[in-house]
Amino acid sequence: MTKIAVAKGDGIGPEIMDAVLGIFEAAKVPLQYEVVDMGKWVFDKGYSNGMTPEAQETIESLGILFKGPMETPKGKGVKSVNVTARKTWNTYANKRTFQTLHGVDTVFSKAGIPIDITIVRENIEDTYGGIEHMLTHDVALGRRFITRPGSLQVIKYAFEMAKKKGARRITCGHKSNIMKITDGLFLEVFHEVAKEYPELKADDVIVDDLCMKLVSRPDLFDVVVLTNLQGDIVSDLCAGLVGGLGFAPSANIGDHISIFEAVHGTAPDIAGKNIANPTALLLSGFGMLRHLGLMETSAMIENALLYTLESGVHTGDFGDKSTPALSTSEFAAAIIGNFGKLPANHPKPAIANHYVTPTHFKLEKNPMLESIEMGQEEIVGVDLFIESNEQPTILAEKMLKHTLDIFKLVTISNRGTQVWPKGSVFTNLVNQYRCRFESIGDLPVTQVDVLELYKRVMQDYKVCSTELLNMWDGKKAYSLAQGQ
Ligand code: NAI
Repeated sequence: MTKIAVAKGDGIGPEIMDAVLGIFEAAKVPLQYEVVDMGKWVFDKGYSNGMTPEAQETIESLGILFKGPMETPKGKGVKSVNVTARKTWNTYANKRTFQTLHGVDTVFSKAGIPIDITIVRENIEDTYGGIEHMLTHDVALGRRFITRPGSLQVIKYAFEMAKKKGARRITCGHKSNIMKITDGLFLEVFHEVAKEYPELKADDVIVDDLCMKLVSRPDLFDVVVLTNLQGDIVSDLCAGLVGGLGFAPSANIGDHISIFEAVHGTAPDIAGKNIANPTALLLSGFGMLRHLGLMETSAMIENALLYTLESGVHTGDFGDKSTPALSTSEFAAAIIGNFGKLPANHPKPAIANHYVTPTHFKLEKNPMLESIEMGQEEIVGVDLFIESNEQPTILAEKMLKHTLDIFKLVTISNRGTQVWPKGSVFTNLVNQYRCRFESIGDLPVTQVDVLELYKRVMQDYKVCSTELLNMWDGKKAYSLAQGQ
């Protein structure tokens, strides 16, 4: 029998996990559970990543973690256990499915508009690296990583999943009209991968437009793939479309380890009262059962859940307020009582089980993801981020003294808007500028040349940060300032 790791979590975690495992047991799901120590209470015991070394070892050897929500301890410098788990084990794709559930009334169900959307969110990169610095007392800077191999992993997963699911359409949500290099890279990889799947209708939509379209015509979308932060926001928007967080499941998929959990948190306001809705965790459990090839078993329980919802049975957070709400355990018992029944609306087809045993990898070293090096690479300049509260012309005058015979001062910008050589006195300034030096004639320069420039500028200003300007195969690998 396949063994998986289970972490019950904090707050309502243990209540909803016990309810779901009770349903699995009654359905004779052929799984064994190894409960591991993970969560806020483990953190409080002094384990800074929120899990014991034994828990980490068990999860790494079993490959599957079914988890309840976990509280993030408050305070600076403390990382979320949930995010740590996703990043440590490289679960690069966060898959969330949002479907109309009969018995869960929403604006769309009342209007007869069916929803069946799967959001695939990149789970590792973007601003979630949390690499942030104060450059001056007034200016904070965060770094946003979008990588080609990271984008490739999640986008390939999204296409494979869409193909298996028989999706009508796969859409990339992005903001590459503004973030031309970062979101531009994600979008480029999306269209490259799309060529390998000619049978799927692949298109892209700018994320703000996507949000508008999702709330007006959600039935037009099927699979949507996005970068981390945009995916985070759009998936909560979709949770709202189908009835809220109580119905939002999530799977964090990696090559070696996968984590299945509900989208919602620990609900401290209702913890310990046996009134929480276990549906989202149960739906996440279905995702896990299907991941393990337990199709028939999953469909049987799913049909019982859908039948239960259709018949008007509900917990306190949804459904007809004129009928009494069931407790968490009563709701689970009602589902068990409906095993074998089929809902009137869209029963799940019982495809035969085809068991998949999670592959146990023993990795000797960290996998290095690297695309093939492309073309000739040259350094052609540098952006120096400097602290100053002077006017742009005064700053430019001083900078021009330092250019040596190698560099020319091309532009000075403030918060990304060009203020020199051209600009407007109506542009508000903060005390941190970016000065862009490019090599004369676009000739390659060395890091030593850059260091020499840095040393000279340093005589007048504090250099808060630097970024080299690269040219690949004659193409600029950096963005222009607004107005440049
Ligand atoms: P939350 O999702 O815990 O609660 C938001 C609201 O939804 C509350 O009113 C709550 O009672 C309700 N709610 C949530 N799940 C419910 C359920 N199953 N049944 C009925 N009502 C439900 O979000 P909040 O309050 O922002 O976060 C609380 C804690 O959970 C924080 O420490 C946060 O860091 C953590 N969290 C953990 C997550 C995870 O483990 N993946 C995800 C989100 C938050």
